[in-house]
Parts: sequence; structure tokens; C-alpha cells
Amino acid sequence: MERTVGATDLADPQVYAAGIPHGVFAELRTRPGLTWNAIGGDISDGFWSVSRHRDVVEVSRDPETFSSAVGHIQIYDIDADALDARASMIDMDPPVHTRLRRLVSAAFTPRHVQSYAEAVRNRVRDSLDAFEAAGAGDWVAAVAKPIPIGVICDILGVPEQDHDYMIELSDHLVAGTSSEPLDPGAYGNTTDLRLLPFNSPAAHALNEYAHSLGEQRRRQPQDDLITKLIEAEVDGERLSDEEFANFFRLMIFAGNETTRSSMSHLALHLARFPEEFDRVRRDRSLIDSAVEEVIRYSSPILYFRRTATRDVVLAGTPVAKGERVVMWYAAANFDSDVFADAERFDVGRPTPPANVAFGGGGAHFCLGASLARLELSALLDEIVSRDWSVDVGEAEYVDSNFVNGIEHLTVSLR
Ligand code: HEM
Repeated sequence: MERTVGATDLADPQVYAAGIPHGVFAELRTRPGLTWNAIGGDISDGFWSVSRHRDVVEVSRDPETFSSAVGHIQIYDIDADALDARASMIDMDPPVHTRLRRLVSAAFTPRHVQSYAEAVRNRVRDSLDAFEAAGAGDWVAAVAKPIPIGVICDILGVPEQDHDYMIELSDHLVAGTSSEPLDPGAYGNTTDLRLLPFNSPAAHALNEYAHSLGEQRRRQPQDDLITKLIEAEVDGERLSDEEFANFFRLMIFAGNETTRSSMSHLALHLARFPEEFDRVRRDRSLIDSAVEEVIRYSSPILYFRRTATRDVVLAGTPVAKGERVVMWYAAANFDSDVFADAERFDVGRPTPPANVAFGGGGAHFCLGASLARLELSALLDEIVSRDWSVDVGEAEYVDSNFVNGIEHLTVSLR
């Protein structure tokens, strides 16, 4: 059967230089079926682009057909030994995934997350007080970076003095999805880059850090998630050093990069749609829907990939066993079949339907969704309480085909 091939290579990080390529995604959504993305123009090396909301949900909820453990969850395949060495629960299918996820899920339930509320609020207030005193600055460095890393490090038990190092390593990991080559020897790395997540030497540094912190907790247990992971047992066995380090790295990356991105976009929206923030100021019951709208609009993770484990028909398109299926969350979140007037930033938008920024549901649905919502609602509530109006400079986007991050954003308070 003839494949419909997309005109834009969505694997190219340059496509995201000015944020989500809405025009390209809108075109994909109007085409019947799925569109084949030829990487670098090579028709034989590509993937299926999934751009509609209902199709993203379908793929997300069928891990037997659309596997996370085969090939890779990012666009480029990696070798089986590399997959093995890198694998954290996000790269696994049930039931292996289920057992690992159970180890940490209790710490992230909506109820348990409420116990972090005061600490989160304090971090938000401290950052905003300092920003207010300065009157202007780089919002990403002053607010969006320190809050999420502070919160996830508190939960894990990473000491305050190491938070900046965690930010640095997490940024370095994302650089692995950019067009720039990485220095293989950075952070004293001697491991072959292909065996490291994001092909990044920062993954080596995070592993080393995890080992030393884990070692400390083994000697001196504390009331934190690291200690729980060290002591946890899956089927009567403790996590291996490698499994523990992979867990730690996933938490640091996932708990920080994404929420940061929504916080950066929040400042952009504040400048672009001040009247929407006035609505929240007048009616605080809109906080929850406003947070969902910020998350939908920012879609911090552009995609995750799955691999077909059998021949299957998706959205009317035959997908062969072994083919790559890329779910563009950032496209599905603007699907007008699901979101009325999808381009509009509307803090009162009803939910459901849920956006798919946290995934389309199913086994891997974002573990930290409640935590991210808690952080964003604290930030939004504090901002509207302060009655700020802001000017923003040009957003400088992260060079990546994977995250919709903002590197720098100058914000000035009026
Ligand atoms: C706005 C913020 C966030 C966004 C947009 C986001 C997005 C996502 C997405 C798209 C996935 C994959 C879903 C799937 O495959 O179905 C995911 C998984 C995950 N997220 Fe988040 N995330 C955010 C915040 C957080 C936070 C704060 C944490 C802290 C713990 C976190 C931890 C995780 C973990 C551990 C996974 C893997 C879950 C699994 O494989 O079972 N995320 N997230």
C-alpha cells in the first residue's frame, strides 16, 4: 500500500526552534490515517506519526501491541545491550513495568502528594519573592528551574547543595536530543555513549551520584525515597545497583525538566493572555482548569514512541510488526475534534476531555502528574495573588526534538 509521506522531517530538532510546529501538526491531523515520516529524507528509515488525540489514546492503552520495551521509546533505535543497560521502568512493558512502578507509586498518589504542599508553596514563595525584589531576570533560571528540582530532590532526599548539579546534569541529558555532538569524556565518562541514556555522559554522572547517595543511605537510612528504593524488594529481591541508578535518573529527569517547561510557558502566557489571568484572579476556582490549560498549551514532552509487536491497523493505516509509532502529544493536544477552538488559550476550558501532555493513559501515564499539578497550581495562585503584569523577551527554545523546553526567557515586572 502507498504510504502518505510527510513533507517535514519531525526528527529534525530545528523544526522546534520556535516551539511547537502547529502548522505542520495541523496538516498531519487533517490527513486520513497515519503519515510516514522519512528520517533525513530516507523513505526506508522512518516512523509513523500519530497526531490525533484518539489515536494517541489508543496506542497508549495497548502496550501489548505498542511496546515500550522493543526498539526504544525515542525515535532512534538502540541495540539490545544498550536497551538493557539503560532501561528504567519507562522502557518496560507490563508485567515487569508494573512491579517496578509499584515501588514508587505510593509516594506520588494525589493524596500523598498533598503532604508536600507546604514545602512546595514555600519554594514557590521564596523564588517569587527574590524575583519580585530583582524586578526582572531570566525566569527559567530564577523560577522554572529551581522549583521542580527542589521539590523532587526533597522527595528523593538529595541535599540542597547538590540541586544545581542535578539541574546541570538534567540539562546535559536533554542536550543528547539536540543536533550538537556531545563530548564523550565529559564528567570523567569512560562508558561507550551508546550504552548511556540520551547517549549522554551526564547519565554516567547521574549513575555515579546515585551510587554514592545510595551507599550513604545504606549506611544511614533516612525518611526519604532513596532509602525506600534501597530497601525495596521486587519479588523478594532488592533492586540491583544498576536498577536503582536507572530509577534515580528517571526521577531526576522526569520530575524536573517537564514541570520546568510548563512553568516557563506559564510566564509566556501571562504576558500574552493577561485577561485570562485576570479571570483566575477574580475567580480562584479556575486554578485547576487554568493549570490544565497551561500544561496542554506547553505540552512539555513532544512525543514518546512505541514499536508495533504485530501487524495492526491504526487509524485505518496498516502498521507492520517492528515499525515505529510516534505519538505526538503536542499535536494531539490541539486536535479540534476534541478541544473546541483548540488554538485558544482558555483558562475555563472544561476537563474532560483530558489533554495528553501526561500521556494518553494506560500503564505509563505520568507518575508525577499530581505533583506537577500541585507545583503549577501553587505557582499560578501565588502569581495571581501578587497581581503582576509582565513583559517578556523572545523565548529561546531548547534545541531538541523531544522536549518543548525554553532555555532562557527574560521577564520584567511592570
Ligand atoms: C508538567 C509536567 C509533566 C509532564 C508534561 C510529564 C509528562 C510525562 C509523559 C508524557 C510521560 C509518559 C506517559 C506515557 O508514556 O504514557 C511521563 C511519564 C513519567 N513521568 Fe511525567 N511529566 C511531568 C511531570 C513529572 C513529575 C513532576 C514527575 C516526578 C516524579 C514525573 C515522573 C514521571 C515518571 C517516573 C514517568 C514514567 C512512568 C512509567 O513509565 O510508568 N513526571 N511523564
